[in-house]
Amino acid sequence: MIEFNYRNVCADILGQDKGLNLEAVFNEYENKISNIILDLNLRKDKPGQWLQWMNLGYNEETVWYVKEYAAMVEGRFDNILVLGIGGSALGSIAMCEALLKPYWNMLSKEERGGLPRIFFLDNIDPDQINALLDMLDLKKTLVNVITKSGSTAETMSQFMIIKDRMQNILGDDYRKNIVATTDKQSGILRQIANEEGYKTFVVPDDVGGRFSVFSAVGLVPMALVGIDIDEIMEGVKVMDLTLKNTDVRKNIAAQNALIHYLMDTQKGNYISVMMPYSSRLKYVADWYVQLWAESLGKEVDRNGNKINIGPTPIKALGATDQHSQIQLYNEGKNDKIITFIRVGEFDTTLEIPKIFEYTGIGYLGGNTINNLINAEADSTAVALTDFKRPNLTITLPKITAGNLAQLFYMLEVQTAIIGELYNINAFNQPGVEQAKNYTYALMGRAGYEESKEELTQKISR
Ligand code: PA5
Repeated sequence: MIEFNYRNVCADILGQDKGLNLEAVFNEYENKISNIILDLNLRKDKPGQWLQWMNLGYNEETVWYVKEYAAMVEGRFDNILVLGIGGSALGSIAMCEALLKPYWNMLSKEERGGLPRIFFLDNIDPDQINALLDMLDLKKTLVNVITKSGSTAETMSQFMIIKDRMQNILGDDYRKNIVATTDKQSGILRQIANEEGYKTFVVPDDVGGRFSVFSAVGLVPMALVGIDIDEIMEGVKVMDLTLKNTDVRKNIAAQNALIHYLMDTQKGNYISVMMPYSSRLKYVADWYVQLWAESLGKEVDRNGNKINIGPTPIKALGATDQHSQIQLYNEGKNDKIITFIRVGEFDTTLEIPKIFEYTGIGYLGGNTINNLINAEADSTAVALTDFKRPNLTITLPKITAGNLAQLFYMLEVQTAIIGELYNINAFNQPGVEQAKNYTYALMGRAGYEESKEELTQKISR
């Protein structure tokens, strides 16, 4: 199991001003937390609650169909190209970066065990898209287009460019190179897929993008590059059972939600920094930033009161950002809470050769890079604590599919619990929808004409 250490937020370490008396806090919030967990578990099967992500770990049927498809296309493609944005991409980017061998796309086919390379297009930079399409042999590329709504401008514009190029190259056969993941019946992509006869997977009802990594949204890309999705599901189930415990003293997601909530509302530490000490986990921080920002940044509470709340998430990478952000975290405004993700055992042990005797670097020789990175993680935590900066550590015994799944699921549940503490709807994103609608208007989508005029005036003022 992954481990969670909250020592460095406690008042006996940080002092009363910045620290929390967690025993007293757990006593005070015991009933509230227990009710939240019970309530989430009661509501999770009800339509319209957007809590179906809590059932994804048990969706054996989807896992079976995804594995069947991955087996069917095995060996046919050199490249997987995933089109999607936000919640339709960030989870599988983070999982693939963490679980595939580093520099996967640069390895030879043999080194990849015959498995394809994987590319994600989650932006609409014309130079980047063009360069990628010029580089890929589209005949040997399987495109997984992922959009729940089926109409997101970024994803669908990419898809239109690629579909056109593929059809020109492959004729009618281009269909075999496309797999679409979208809503089961609504949306334009579903309509296109039905008309054109693509293989499809479903984004389940009541699962928001940022909570969809364990649905076909994340499972299809992962399975196509050989990630063990059974192990992923096992990790989700193991964590889900642990987090069913309604006792805050035994539920790490509830503890972390409560700590972040109190740090924000009582101590002024509203900036949540996610800092993995592993390059392979770099994109876990990206995924977390979206999960936290879209779920918790809200204008109104559940009673319609205007509150404009939401802790600000920041991504950082250890040890790299020790040389960039840590100065600010140690000495700047004490408004942050830092979460370290630490890896117990790396896949590789990398020794530093004893080749220099200079005093300043000689000590490194004979040591390992493994010890160095974890010593830096530990030292940074201690230094932050010396400066009375609250920090937490999550330890992954190893980077495995199961441990990653545990971590992701824990962070999802934590987000749902803190959303309840803030008394907000953590599962909508009206702020994102507004910008999407403005883009539709500017780009001339039918039905948005009035809005276009108003927007054009605002832009030109
Ligand atoms: O988390 C979310 O809901 C969003 O980030 C969406 O995933 C993102 O806007 C993409 O939407 P769609 O899957 O409809 O293309």
